[in-house]
Amino acid sequence: MSLNIRQATTLDVYSITELFRNTVTSINRQDYTKEEIQVWAESAHNIARWEQKIATQYFLVAEINAQIVGFASINQAGNYLDFLYVHHHFQRQGIAQKLYNTLENYAIGQQANEVTSNVSITARPFFEKNGFEVLQPQQNLRQQVVLVNFKMRKTLKPNLTTR
Ligand SMILES: CC(C)(COP(=O)(O)OP(=O)(O)OC[C@H]1O[C@@H](n2cnc3c(N)ncnc32)[C@H](O)[C@@H]1OP(=O)(O)O)[C@@H](O)C(=O)NCCC(=O)NCCS
Repeated sequence: MSLNIRQATTLDVYSITELFRNTVTSINRQDYTKEEIQVWAESAHNIARWEQKIATQYFLVAEINAQIVGFASINQAGNYLDFLYVHHHFQRQGIAQKLYNTLENYAIGQQANEVTSNVSITARPFFEKNGFEVLQPQQNLRQQVVLVNFKMRKTLKPNLTTR
């Protein structure tokens, strides 16, 4: 099995949103109520918003045999990690780690001092393993449903080879 990481294009938008919907409804469902999952998964429908994220962020997909098995993104400044989702059939195979490493290298290349993210209950252990700390729990109100996540932050060491 060889895992390939590449930058996403807007042609990937339907594969990305399908993966998102499936991962939220099966993996995040373990930590959130049915109502919370419904509201969360609904954001897959706004295709224009996803296309805009793909076009404006450093947005990666991970592929195995041309199948998208994960995606991740960070803003251009490299200091805010927006997405990190792995296909529900490919969990715990190191795919998020490879995506994250590529994003972190990008952030260091952008000379970001830190990376923050709004991290789900489900993803918190992954981020803690990668050196993030919880700044505060957050309650996000979406369509009268409260979604809990955590504002997390990692301080980056400067890349001495580029200075
Ligand atoms: C969080 C997520 C991206 C991790 O993806 P993954 O590819 O399964 O993670 P990896 O295999 O790269 O994990 C690397 C290490 O992180 C840690 N880790 C990952 N998931 C973990 C979990 N559920 N519990 C404890 N540790 C975990 C482990 O140390 C793991 O190494 P190990 O498998 O050798 O023990 C994935 O579970 C996911 O898609 N979750 C749902 C979507 C989500 O909540 N995304 C974040 C939105 S903010």
